[in-house]
Amino acid sequence: MSKQKRHSFAALLSALALIVTLNGCNSGSDSGNTGSGSGTTSSSDKIVIGVYADLTGNTSTFGEETKNGVTLAVEEINAKGGVLGKQIELKIEDTRSDPIQAKNAVTKLIQVEKSTAIIGEVASKLSLAGAPVCQENGVPMITPSSTNPEVTKKGDYIFRVCFLDTFQGAVLAKFAHDNLKTTKVSILYDNSNDYSVGLAEFFKEAFTKMGGTIAGELTFKATDSDFRSQLTTIRGQNPQVVFVPGYYDKMGLIARQAREQGITVPMLGGDGWSSPDLLKGAGNALEGCFFSDHYSPDDPDPKIQEFVKKYSEKFGKTPTGLAALAYDAANVLFAAMETAKSADRKAIRDALAAVENFAGVSGNISMDENRDARKSASVLAIKGGKITFETKIEPADVQM
Ligand code: PHE
Repeated sequence: MSKQKRHSFAALLSALALIVTLNGCNSGSDSGNTGSGSGTTSSSDKIVIGVYADLTGNTSTFGEETKNGVTLAVEEINAKGGVLGKQIELKIEDTRSDPIQAKNAVTKLIQVEKSTAIIGEVASKLSLAGAPVCQENGVPMITPSSTNPEVTKKGDYIFRVCFLDTFQGAVLAKFAHDNLKTTKVSILYDNSNDYSVGLAEFFKEAFTKMGGTIAGELTFKATDSDFRSQLTTIRGQNPQVVFVPGYYDKMGLIARQAREQGITVPMLGGDGWSSPDLLKGAGNALEGCFFSDHYSPDDPDPKIQEFVKKYSEKFGKTPTGLAALAYDAANVLFAAMETAKSADRKAIRDALAAVENFAGVSGNISMDENRDARKSASVLAIKGGKITFETKIEPADVQM
């Protein structure tokens, strides 16, 4: 076909697509019931992928890194000719770290934007709000980074490319026990956050199983800014480590107040600490602390170094585990579409469920029968005002 002919052919196709849409060829068929297998997007020359993430709320680096990771993957694939010969078009909606907004964002991405598949959210609490909407509409959803076990239990259209908090809790317990040689830990967690509640519980289970003691469990809420009464109690418990499975945006404050209260022992956290802004406003209060993450940008693996280079050049920041997971989630989705040889949602779902040994930046990804990935975790340290690689813990290293 000549260039011009191809052009008018494409124009004809989009005109047809428009007529079909205007005819009311029920856009509901795009968002048909689970397993109806009828869902492809209305646009004939593009495949729309929706992303929902916190772009402007308290944890906006979660959204920023997710958006960047997915954008990088989309630009690369589009430069290579796209997926199934079509360009990928991204639609991104802000959740502002609010479950109601998350639900609305997903509804819009499906009903208005006609997304073929959805990537998001980061926070488990928000994925738990968005996943049922994807499931009801038969739209495959991949969360790059929600680690709470409940997320993928929302249904067979819900996937993740990261490890679970059952594993992460065991990793941190092992690290506290074997590497830090501690046996007495106090826990301070956010009881308004499903992720934090879950991770506190899984850590406790694993740590006590290893013979460790939990000296006390204190709680806070995401809206709090004064943690001194909890910290005073914790000081009295005389722990060897304080485990704080919260998000990065609170950690500077918590750590500074802890040091002011005379708590000098290391603090330990999970992937929720992962952010280019973790040390912002922390002074040196987080020095000597540790947290688990999904990868380390210091890993000499050439695949990782290539990703770190491309991402940093484009966005001017070193990618944390979150950006790596977002990049991987998008590429897993593209690979599944190619395997499915179709942009049909049910076909994509089936291909996602069969993903085996996908070589991601964040590690090898295989979907298990619960649509979860089994991966290793990296433990990172805060040393000399920098985040550095400490150790890597494999699924086979921990008991769960
Ligand atoms: N795992 C966290 C959750 O489920 C989200 C997160 C992942 C945050 C990775 C930072 C890095 O809520």
